[in-house]
Amino acid sequence: MTQMRATQILLICGSLRKGSSNRATLDTAVSVAPLGVMASAYDVMDCLPHFNPDLDGPPLPEPVRELRMAIESAHAVLFCTPEYAGALPGSLKNLLDWTVGGVEISAKPCGWINISTMPGGAAGAHAELATVLRYTDARLVEPACVHVPVGRGEIGPDGLITTPQTREALTAVLTALAEAAAAR
Ligand SMILES: Cc1cc2nc3c(=O)[nH]c(=O)nc-3n(C[C@H](O)[C@H](O)[C@H](O)COP(=O)(O)O)c2cc1C
Repeated sequence: MTQMRATQILLICGSLRKGSSNRATLDTAVSVAPLGVMASAYDVMDCLPHFNPDLDGPPLPEPVRELRMAIESAHAVLFCTPEYAGALPGSLKNLLDWTVGGVEISAKPCGWINISTMPGGAAGAHAELATVLRYTDARLVEPACVHVPVGRGEIGPDGLITTPQTREALTAVLTALAEAAAAR
C-alpha cells in the first residue's frame, strides 16, 4: 500500500509577544489544517543572532542552521506578522536576512495572513514582506497572501480564533499553499 506523505507547512510568526494575535492565528491554522496537511510552527526566532555576513558560515551558527533546515524540510511557508513603525518587525527582517544566503526558500511556495484591524491595514509591513520574499526568490502564492482582520475579541480562552469565517479562511490559505507545493 502506498502511503501519502503529508504536505508540511512551516508557520513563521513575526511577533515575539506573549499573547500575540499573530501567534494565535498561526496556532489556529495548525488546528484547522486540511486533511493531508501538517502545519507546524517555527518558534525560536528569538534565538537567531543578529544577521552578519561574517557569520554566514561555514560553519553556520546553530540556530541559523536549524532555521534553514526547517525551511528546507517544509513544502511551503506561511507568515503572519504585525507591522511595527510602518514596516516589518526587526526580528522577522533579521530572520529573512538569514534566508538570503541559503537556497532553501528559493522557489518555495510562500504566503501570509495579514490580520491587521488598523486603518492602514499593515500595508507597509506586507509590502516589505513581498519585497524581501521576492528578493529571496521565494514563490509568492497569490491566494495564500490574504488580509483577514482578526480582532482581539475573536480569540477564545484556549488562545484560538473562534470566528468560523476566519477559521475557514485559514484552511483556504493552507489548501492554496499545499496545492502550490503539489504542483512544484
Ligand atoms: C513599537 C510598535 C509599533 C507599532 N507600529 C504599528 C504600525 O506601524 N502599524 C500598525 O498597524 N500597527 C502598529 N503597531 C501595533 C501592532 O502591530 C499591533 O499591536 C499588533 O496586533 C501586534 O501583533 P501581536 O498581537 O501579534 O503582537 C505597533 C506596535 C508597537 C508595539
